Amino acid sequence: MGAKSSLAPLLLPLAEQVECSALDPAALPLIRARHVRLLPPDQARRIHYSRQDVRNLHGRWDLIVLKSVLGGVHRAHDSTPADLGATLSDIVHNHLETGGWLITLDNGRTVLEPLLARFGARRNGWRFFRRGGFLPADACYGFGATRLGRLGRLVDDALYGIDCLLTPFLGCTAGPCTFYCRF
Ligand SMILES: C[S@@+](CC[C@H](N)C(=O)[O-])C[C@H]1O[C@@H](n2cnc3c(N)ncnc32)[C@H](O)[C@@H]1O
Repeated sequence: MGAKSSLAPLLLPLAEQVECSALDPAALPLIRARHVRLLPPDQARRIHYSRQDVRNLHGRWDLIVLKSVLGGVHRAHDSTPADLGATLSDIVHNHLETGGWLITLDNGRTVLEPLLARFGARRNGWRFFRRGGFLPADACYGFGATRLGRLGRLVDDALYGIDCLLTPFLGCTAGPCTFYCRF
């Protein structure tokens, strides 16, 4: 859900059918065209396209993957952790088949976060999550550290090094990944 770069092809080995959905239906033809270009026809045919709003889903699935979606849906300035909890709970209880899984992968707060926010990197209010910022999950993993594209490789590598060094000690994570199962 919230497709752009599209994980759908990666999910084909896991399911008979994969639903690739976006909030803006106008984004779907481009995503479909890329799948048709990159995938063998029999695989491309197994991907279905839909418009879905994660705050108002229609349907039930065995697996839902949300990559870099929740941070934009629940922005820091107009949403609370309770709102996030309500969205996650609604998805798990009302939109997963029994035994179904919800996997979320988002941007996390690393040790550099206050510095980045201080220099205006977070003006759009995109929410960067703390490790414990989600409803208790069946599993939760965190990935390494931040990289900054334009500021130049040198600054980027130096900051990345500091991040790798300090983040583990401060209980931060750059990419929290949570797994929820509807038993
Ligand atoms: C940062 S992009 C991530 C795109 C893609 N998942 C990826 O990882 O490359 C955020 C995506 O969230 C989608 N989005 C924003 N609000 C949404 C909502 N309420 N329901 C579903 N998707 C939403 C946007 O359309 C956009 O495609």
